[in-house]
Amino acid sequence: MQPDSALLARLARHRQDHLLRFWNDLDEPAQAQLLAQVSAMDFERIDNLVAKLVRGSESSVPPIESVGPVEVFGLPQTDAERSARRLVAEIGHDALSRGEVAVVLVAGGSGTRLGFEGPKGTYPIGPVSGASLFQIHAEKIVALGRRFGRPIPLYVMTSPENNDITQQFFDDNNRFGLSHLRLFVQGNMPAVDSETGRVLLATNDGLALSPDGHGGTIAALNAKGPDGGPSCFDEMASLGIKTLFYFQVDNPLVKIADPAFLGLHLQAKAEMSFKVIEKVRPDEKVGVVVTVDGMPQVIEYSDLPAELAERREPDGRLQLWAGSIAIHLFELAFLQRLASGEISLPFHRALKKVPYVNEAGELVQPSAPNAVKFEQFIFDALPLAARYTLVETDRKVEFEPLKNATGPDSPATVRARMSENFAEWLETAGATVARASDGSVPFGLEISPLFALDANELKTKIAPGTHIEKSIYLRP
Ligand code: UD1
Repeated sequence: MQPDSALLARLARHRQDHLLRFWNDLDEPAQAQLLAQVSAMDFERIDNLVAKLVRGSESSVPPIESVGPVEVFGLPQTDAERSARRLVAEIGHDALSRGEVAVVLVAGGSGTRLGFEGPKGTYPIGPVSGASLFQIHAEKIVALGRRFGRPIPLYVMTSPENNDITQQFFDDNNRFGLSHLRLFVQGNMPAVDSETGRVLLATNDGLALSPDGHGGTIAALNAKGPDGGPSCFDEMASLGIKTLFYFQVDNPLVKIADPAFLGLHLQAKAEMSFKVIEKVRPDEKVGVVVTVDGMPQVIEYSDLPAELAERREPDGRLQLWAGSIAIHLFELAFLQRLASGEISLPFHRALKKVPYVNEAGELVQPSAPNAVKFEQFIFDALPLAARYTLVETDRKVEFEPLKNATGPDSPATVRARMSENFAEWLETAGATVARASDGSVPFGLEISPLFALDANELKTKIAPGTHIEKSIYLRP
């Protein structure tokens, strides 16, 4: 087999002809694989990205003096505010009862920091049951569907690397009872050499590819199904879905499709909404929502200059305090508009160590960053939304992500936080929980979302005066 001359000319024009360097050493299946990868590359786009993000000095950091805080719906503080929030939640209830809400879970990341083989969603995080992140999320969705009398469709974004194993996991577990589950695969982007801007080969017959970031969700939801069937967007529209609840796989505390959040979003006719927490340390690893010349925008934690991170109000609180926990609502019509290509999300650069095959055909394991990867971030949709809302939540209740193997945001902290929260539910529901002298819960506690979704529901299920003095897993 020989690649056609048009492709060879295209490669030469874009200075990427090295990608076929080992062509004559490859057998036919390997040639076919390489050809498919190379033909799928949009080299014009890669040239532009290299000019901007590899050779150029385009920065994601806005001028410091243009950055200011954003307005947020704060946590309700008074009885009146609490009852107003309950009222607005009715709007969310109605949308859920009409079947207008779908859930999008992004799980295409590689989970390198956690050091876990396999998709992060399969990690056994339940403090007592060892239930996986996927199971916990899925059971919440099943329980919500029952509560509102309409099953909620779940769309899970995977990557080309973890799609099959994720699908297998859901199949092996009977989809955890979900009535509508669809996996969709995000796109890839090539890594380029940070000196030359040329695409790296991972093997003699394959490019160094990695997921295109969760901004890739939009294009992936808009792509046709694997057999040419309807895209996820088309399917959602035909199901009567109007609003998407979006979240990341790593946070088991997420209040999926929170009716009050939905209510505030729908009441404001917002196109995109964020849940935020109050950042308490300048160096916390969450993106911050800010205004830049009055327009809302997220600055990712890795891009936030210390001078901005540390800026304080006279009362000592951080000025840029609205930390994004990557929980969003989107109007379907807004995302469809973004997918139509008139406007697109910017790419960010990440300088990484990427193993590659050199000119001599040897695999090189770099000891220092040698490559630039390109990623789009979903939160960059914010400035493109005509209207938006930001809603504060309590980190203890809703944010304890699984990111690292040890230390902060690790299995130990996540399990401890889950047990603490379930202890509070039990106490609110009228039970007593034996606590250690420092007030902590000295054993694992867990409540399946199918047993109770919140403390109020739990109240209807346990006898008042119940005393808990050892590890327990409540499930139907
Ligand atoms: C992310 C956010 C950060 C936020 C924090 C909250 C980014 C760039 N930053 O940081 O602003 O405050 O979460 O926990 O996202 N994913 C994909 N495909 C990809 C890349 C990621 O599906 O190509 C998914 C991952 O599976 C994961 C999530 O996106 O669920 C987050 O990705 P990660 O790279 O871990 O972001 P963080 O640095 O934790």
